[in-house]
Amino acid sequence: MIYKLAIEAFAATPEVRAVLERVREDRLLSKSKFTIVDGGLDTAPAYYADRQTPQLVIVEETSDDQAMLEHLAALAEVCVEGTRVVVIGQLNDIHVYRTLIQQGVSEYLVSPVSPREVVDAIASIFSDPSAPARGKVLAFYGARGGVGSSTIAQNVAWSLSRAIDDDVVLVDLDLAHGTAGLALNLDSKQTVGDILANPDRADQVLIERFLVRHDDHLQVLLSPADLGRMMTVEADALERVLELVRQLAPYVVLDLPHHWAGWIAHALVLADDVVVTALPDLANLRDCKNLWDGVAAKRGETAPTRLLLNRMDAYKKTQLSPKDFEETLGVAPFATLPFDPQLFGTAANNGQMLGEASKGHKVAESITQMAVQLTGRQQIAAKKNKSLFHWLKGDKAKGVEKRKR
Ligand SMILES: Nc1ncnc2c1ncn2[C@@H]1O[C@H](COP(=O)(O)OP(=O)(O)OP(=O)(O)O)[C@@H](O)[C@H]1O
Ligand SMILES: [Mg+2]
Repeated sequence: MIYKLAIEAFAATPEVRAVLERVREDRLLSKSKFTIVDGGLDTAPAYYADRQTPQLVIVEETSDDQAMLEHLAALAEVCVEGTRVVVIGQLNDIHVYRTLIQQGVSEYLVSPVSPREVVDAIASIFSDPSAPARGKVLAFYGARGGVGSSTIAQNVAWSLSRAIDDDVVLVDLDLAHGTAGLALNLDSKQTVGDILANPDRADQVLIERFLVRHDDHLQVLLSPADLGRMMTVEADALERVLELVRQLAPYVVLDLPHHWAGWIAHALVLADDVVVTALPDLANLRDCKNLWDGVAAKRGETAPTRLLLNRMDAYKKTQLSPKDFEETLGVAPFATLPFDPQLFGTAANNGQMLGEASKGHKVAESITQMAVQLTGRQQIAAKKNKSLFHWLKGDKAKGVEKRKR
């Protein structure tokens, strides 16, 4: 959810000001108007004497509870109806917390606060419980061309749908060269290219018609993979398609093509999770550095960008190490995959996923682990009906059915 809010924040200390500056940069607030004012809660009432309060006022207070309550009462006098107030204070005391909440404060955070705590507080105040459920968007992007990003996106989507035993939608956004159809052995004339070309006509019914089903849980929006049509994609069109698709499944996997355009940069900021795949060489490291300085910085620490090193040990003697990447980017790779031309080649030739081509293979297991990690859940609950005796129960039930008849 990207929030479009008007927020004014009052910082009494340089520490909280620094935190608020990072909150202002957060991608969830990229469409919000976020003003930081120097001076704490006590300066807020005078500030609003001749201005209207915005949707959210964040105030830092450094004094004791009595003074804080007096300052809040003065702020309440000038607040227009509907303004929400978050207080950042020094007192770690449940009574203070309760009193403030009773007084109508939306949230009380105790210093020192992290940017994440502040963003989470804003999200919990402004999320609409009646809004439709929205799936998590996982975007895959190659630091350079041909690094294996699409293969990994497809395999993560497939493994994820099996691990969670729930719906996953894969969107192949490589409009000219997409390979999801080949990799999953699917075909359709109705593609995501048509939807992106006419975003105003798109609605959920249309998207559902365009989805191609691979199995019980995995559905795909295929790319046209057509060189005959030069397509320019508008960032707004992409945003609209994502909004619709994410209402259809708890997870949406985006396979982004390796080129640089406004809509791709936009997708990388909008996605809840981004996995950048790179090969362990210097050119990949340089391009990752550019991505980390640009995109990863914009996503902020509440939505970190993940690094995946692929085809490890293809050039064992000359390759860069995961440590080289960590030293340059400041993040350790969240996964590495070995160079395995036999496994990847067989799967590609057969139109199969790695776990189908070679069941139980170490690489397929790593991809499942990666998929689970992306859900943020520590472990996925065992699938239904997996008790040792489920077959016995099943037989009994069938027997009873038969007898009834
Ligand atoms: N770890 C690996 N070992 C061996 N081959 C691999 C590995 N990972 C990917 N490949 C192969 O590399 C080739 C390129 O992969 P893929 O098309 O997924 O890359 P990409 O980054 O999406 O490329 P593009 O820039 O064209 O979008 C494929 O043939 C794939 O099977
Ligand atoms: Mg690709």
